Amino acid sequence: MILIFLFMLLVHSSANETKFVYNGFQGSINKLHLDGLASILPNGVLQITNSSQSLQHISHAFYPHPIFFKPNHLSFSTTFVFAMNRLARTKARDSGIIFAIASLIANFNKAIPLTSCLSPHHIFAVVLQASKVNINLNSLVPIDSVLGAYYLDKEGVNKTLVLNSGKPVQIWIDYNDTELLVNVTLAPFGHPKPSRCLLSRHINFSTAVLQNMYTGFSYCTNHVSSNNQYILGWSWNQNGKAEDLDPSKLPSLPRIRHKRHGILIGLIAVLVVLIMVVSAGWISWKKKFQELLEPWEKEYASQRFLYRDLYVATKGFRSSELLGVGGFGKVYKGVLPSTNVEVAVKRVSHNSKQGIREFVAEISSMRRLSHRNLVQLLGYCRKEGKLFLVYEHMANGSLDKFLFSQDKKLSLTWPLRLKIVEGVASALLYLHEGWEQVVLHRDVKASNVLLDAKMNAKLGDFGLARLYDHNNDPRTTHVVGTIGYIAPEVSRTQKPTTKADVYAFGMFLLEVGCGRRPIGIQRETGEEDFLSDRVYDCWKRGEILKASDPKMKGDYQEKEMELVLKLGLLCLHPKAKERPTMRQVVQFLDGSLTLPDLTSEYDIESHSWFWEGWRKTYSLTTSNGAETYGIMSSTNSVLQYGR
Ligand SMILES: *[C@@H]1O[C@H](CO)[C@@H](O)[C@H](O)[C@H]1NC(C)=O
Ligand SMILES: *[C@@H]1O[C@H](CO)[C@@H](O)[C@H](O)[C@H]1NC(C)=O
Ligand SMILES: *[C@@H]1O[C@H](CO)[C@@H](O)[C@H](O)[C@H]1NC(C)=O
Ligand SMILES: *[C@@H]1O[C@H](CO)[C@@H](O)[C@H](O)[C@H]1NC(C)=O
Repeated sequence: MILIFLFMLLVHSSANETKFVYNGFQGSINKLHLDGLASILPNGVLQITNSSQSLQHISHAFYPHPIFFKPNHLSFSTTFVFAMNRLARTKARDSGIIFAIASLIANFNKAIPLTSCLSPHHIFAVVLQASKVNINLNSLVPIDSVLGAYYLDKEGVNKTLVLNSGKPVQIWIDYNDTELLVNVTLAPFGHPKPSRCLLSRHINFSTAVLQNMYTGFSYCTNHVSSNNQYILGWSWNQNGKAEDLDPSKLPSLPRIRHKRHGILIGLIAVLVVLIMVVSAGWISWKKKFQELLEPWEKEYASQRFLYRDLYVATKGFRSSELLGVGGFGKVYKGVLPSTNVEVAVKRVSHNSKQGIREFVAEISSMRRLSHRNLVQLLGYCRKEGKLFLVYEHMANGSLDKFLFSQDKKLSLTWPLRLKIVEGVASALLYLHEGWEQVVLHRDVKASNVLLDAKMNAKLGDFGLARLYDHNNDPRTTHVVGTIGYIAPEVSRTQKPTTKADVYAFGMFLLEVGCGRRPIGIQRETGEEDFLSDRVYDCWKRGEILKASDPKMKGDYQEKEMELVLKLGLLCLHPKAKERPTMRQVVQFLDGSLTLPDLTSEYDIESHSWFWEGWRKTYSLTTSNGAETYGIMSSTNSVLQYGR
């Protein structure tokens, strides 16, 4: 009996330990979380970044499931084969591949330069640069840094290894829990693992570990990217040595041009291309801009933009025209050639063919949503698997830039903030009640509030989540909301409601009043700092105004600030039914209803509720018996993975 029990315990415990081997990443598109420029090439090479698109600063390729570390079993062993090539004319020396084991909430929410990429908070990272290997533990400053080299067993000497030569290099990272020793070993790919490691360092990994960690690769830089960075294979094991990669199964690298052959190949290529361009150019030009209009689409023809126009408007979707990257895709700025009207073009990916009709019908109905505080959707365009939404252009960009900037020039006055708050409230009321059907926004936050040239606030990105409801493929990801704005009940039920929008609006009120993000990291302790708790604590002490944005230096109407902050707390009530409706919110703001005092019930439950809510939000586990996992993207959106 005891034996059986022990056996079951063993089975159970080993089931919690993660082990995987990717000999190439072919077919792994759903087995990795990719964002930014990360992609899997057709032959199975994982490309972390790519020099041809240089504006975006951050990419991730992460194993999508959490890695559980038990307190007294923190050992792990991993090996991967990577390649980086340095292109000519580059000064981007501090760009590189980051291998990380990290808790996501603190580390992957912002596009920030390499030096500040590693938020000093629950992270272990090995950073591979041109000639150096750095190790970071909960710190921006590497705890160790060595030049790339490997040990030749026969000769007994070290040989220098340049990491960005374009040739594949294998790295082994082994951490032993009892010795508290992490070993990093390098060798050119194909060379057996050297008997001596490059670096062996005492670390106390338990200072970095939370129960759920995520592992994978990241890339970011403050320079224009001039690297191509690839991972060919990756093996991970928490229970013993990482399984060897199988060289015969690993994909080969995309051709990297070498100088000497380059000239010859270049000459031949130019000739061939010249001949082909002349003959094929005309055909491909025609094909590229061919508009495919299906019979059912005729009724939407007036709303459809020509692909050619959008292409010209955005200069061929050039990265210099990129305005931002949101939960649904990239947004480009453009000037329509025929009318010189400025627009914002959102490129959303859409793979399932059958859904396209519903998709277009939905867009058509969204286009009819019209309110002075909503960003107007002008129309759409589709081309192969891609869908483009065309919006009016908002000259002053998103509100978060103004709220969170330390630049005094961008600071907003109180009357303007109040006007923005009222505008967004009335837009949400319109979505909830002012139309023939209830439209949920699902992603209310400062970065989705846009400002036009006259600093009028308009809510963007509405209704998009609904498009994805038509797409029933459970493997596709769709946005559930953004960490910090997701109501506690939504992280449990996954069912968005108007009251969940009210919750997010409450967080938005606090952002505007306090000039802070919902979750920050405390400078001194490195701990998470929850805006709602901070305001709540101030309120409980009877000095709610202490929570107001210090950048305003008290230059506001105290009554109004108090109203905004208290209303924020009320909207953030842990119990959905206690939150006001948007209609009531608008009335509180215009003074036609008096704000009730927060009840004592709120008092008792709020903290534990908030905490539980956050925690659940970021490891969305088991709903309806089917497991789902939450993982954050670089834009801080929570993507849901169905299983
Ligand atoms: C090789 O490098 C390792 C680690 O940097 C160092 O400890 C060792 O002394 C070197 N060995 C030789 C023979 O240079
Ligand atoms: C790391 O290397 C040291 C020798 O430098 C060795 O004693 C130790 O066992 C190695 N640990 C792991 C986990 O490979
Ligand atoms: C490692 O860190 C943990 C948590 O900070 C601490 O409890 C433990 O004593 C440390 N171990 C050693 C050997 O320093
Ligand atoms: C907003 O945009 C307009 C037009 O582009 C510009 O003149 C104005 O200075 C901007 N306002 C702020 C605060 O940046």
